[in-house]
Amino acid sequence: MKHGRREFIKAGALGAAAAATGLPGLARASDAQQEHRPLSVLILGGTGFIGPHMVREALRRGHSVTLFNRGRTNASLFPDLETIKGDRDGGLDGLAGHDWDAVVDNSGYVPRHVQESTRMLAAHSQRYIFISTVSVYADFNSHNEEDSPLASIDDESIEEVTGETYGALKALCEKRAAAEIDSDQLTILRPTYIAGPGDHTDRFSYWPIRTRRGGSMVWPGTPADAIQVVDVRDLANFVVDCLENEISGTYNMVNAPNSYTMGELLADSQAMTATSVEPVWISEGFAYEQGLIGGRQLPIWHPKTGESGAGGSFSVDRARKAGLRGRPERETIRDLLSWWDTLPVERTGKLRAGLDPAREAELIAAWMARKA
Ligand SMILES: NC(=O)c1ccc[n+]([C@@H]2O[C@H](COP(=O)([O-])OP(=O)(O)OC[C@H]3O[C@@H](n4cnc5c(N)ncnc54)[C@H](OP(=O)(O)O)[C@@H]3O)[C@@H](O)[C@H]2O)c1
Repeated sequence: MKHGRREFIKAGALGAAAAATGLPGLARASDAQQEHRPLSVLILGGTGFIGPHMVREALRRGHSVTLFNRGRTNASLFPDLETIKGDRDGGLDGLAGHDWDAVVDNSGYVPRHVQESTRMLAAHSQRYIFISTVSVYADFNSHNEEDSPLASIDDESIEEVTGETYGALKALCEKRAAAEIDSDQLTILRPTYIAGPGDHTDRFSYWPIRTRRGGSMVWPGTPADAIQVVDVRDLANFVVDCLENEISGTYNMVNAPNSYTMGELLADSQAMTATSVEPVWISEGFAYEQGLIGGRQLPIWHPKTGESGAGGSFSVDRARKAGLRGRPERETIRDLLSWWDTLPVERTGKLRAGLDPAREAELIAAWMARKA
């Protein structure tokens, strides 16, 4: 598994890419970089939300992609790509006897699965990118750098992925990967909420999509409450940058802490939908009383107090230095709305996150009554 280290190529200067959209544009780091030799890339889980963006970006830059999945999710998405069918749960046989320049692991949630794939592929690839999550951190009441303490799980044999175990299991997945892959060949990326076209969670998408309906709309906390997200295209670009530039190490994939707020999300949502809503800012205490905290009814936003804490804040300095570039959130909003409008009504009829209209009306009435 030895290879010559190519020179790390720093992100070039940003150019002006404002185009017909009227949005301030950002040239991606990759646009300013030199040509790279074509790489063969194996993507574990390339057909869900984030995978297809990575597949397209890798192909756009001239690399070849092989997919590995069970054939259940968007099976007909990439008919021209080589797909090896298999289940990570004991079914990696189809990967035997192949070599790739790099592996991108999007589908690792269970430590045993990650141990098996890294053990098997270590000698057959020169880079392993593990997509982790900011949920790995132990403390969401504090600011987290990449070296901050991670969550742990008492019983490391647990494999059931729940809201409770997800973060600690991903942290253990990272550990298993690090035990099998040399540190100069391992890249661990920890995204926060990923937003953009293809998002099947509707968490960030809820806010602009709901805004487009107009009327009185519940907004939690205060307009100054900060949120952190990452555009799926920026994540995908960085993944391919890591492949091409042999970027190793661990990186949070987030927008800058305190750089974007709920108030800005409201303003951007209104601007990109050309709709005005009457925002009803409910207090954190009211949100707790109404049982709105902890689920997906007020997605992306986190209260400042209470058990779930402030949701944490996550440093992006290291990733920025390595070349991560974030587009303006309003571009994410614009593009996710365009994508949303292509979906069938069976999908768009009911959002998977956020308040349903009847509940929202009830909450507004209760909040107004309390204030009267
Ligand atoms: N969404 C977010 O906001 C967010 C935030 C932070 C981190 N992440 C991380 O992002 C990654 C995935 O995101 P995603 O939303 O793109 O996932 P996804 O939509 O659920 O896609 C999962 C992909 O993995 C494949 N897959 C799932 N189980 C498999 C198995 N047992 N064996 C083989 N292939 C399997 C699926 O294809 P088949 O069904 O055909 O097998 C599909 O291609 C995860 O690592 C997650 O922790 C997501």
